[in-house]
Amino acid sequence: MSVESYLERLYEEGRQADTSTSKRSEMMLNITPSTGVFLDLLLSELKPKRILELGTSNGYSTIWLARAAKRIGSQVDTVDKSYKKAQLAGQHLAECNLQDVVVLHVADGGEFLRGCDTAIYDFVFLDADRAAYCHWVDDLVRVTRFGLLVVDNAISHSMELREFKRHLSTNFGFNVTVLPIGNGQMIVQDVG
Ligand SMILES: C[S@@+](CC[C@H](N)C(=O)[O-])C[C@H]1O[C@@H](n2cnc3c(N)ncnc32)[C@H](O)[C@@H]1O
Repeated sequence: MSVESYLERLYEEGRQADTSTSKRSEMMLNITPSTGVFLDLLLSELKPKRILELGTSNGYSTIWLARAAKRIGSQVDTVDKSYKKAQLAGQHLAECNLQDVVVLHVADGGEFLRGCDTAIYDFVFLDADRAAYCHWVDDLVRVTRFGLLVVDNAISHSMELREFKRHLSTNFGFNVTVLPIGNGQMIVQDVG
């Protein structure tokens, strides 16, 4: 099966899983296919060497990142606090033959960021625990060689991300733009 068909199938499975449970921790909450296409385009253009994803879930978005990473010769680190979801993601990545470009980390995103060296990532995709982003912001900026930070749910959950967005633009002076793709993509750039 092609990666394209695999992604279509996984997305449908994710949607079905999300409607069959009321427990958020069991939901897959995948990005939309249009967000996947957008990430692929960004990576193809920017060719970052090291990519970080916070919020792996079942690996749907990771497959989009990994497929582009393989094409451009880069590596993906992806982090999720759920061991079960990381295991599932590992299985899905292997089925797409993309396991060699991805390192799966089971960790809290904030703890993972604290343990990272400075400026080691040149592309970060953030899709984890929105309530924690304001606590993670200093380390996020520290580990990202700006670079680019893309944050999902910038429209669907704009109020939850308001303070984080303000912090990035006011305190750090970054250019923050929201694009109407999928659930809304916040693009954070250092234009200084
Ligand atoms: C919206 S889902 C990610 C969806 C995934 N990016 C995709 O599109 O396939 C959010 C994920 O973040 C994880 N998560 C939530 N809080 C976290 C935290 N503090 N540290 C690491 N992962 C966390 C959840 O376990 C969940 O799998």
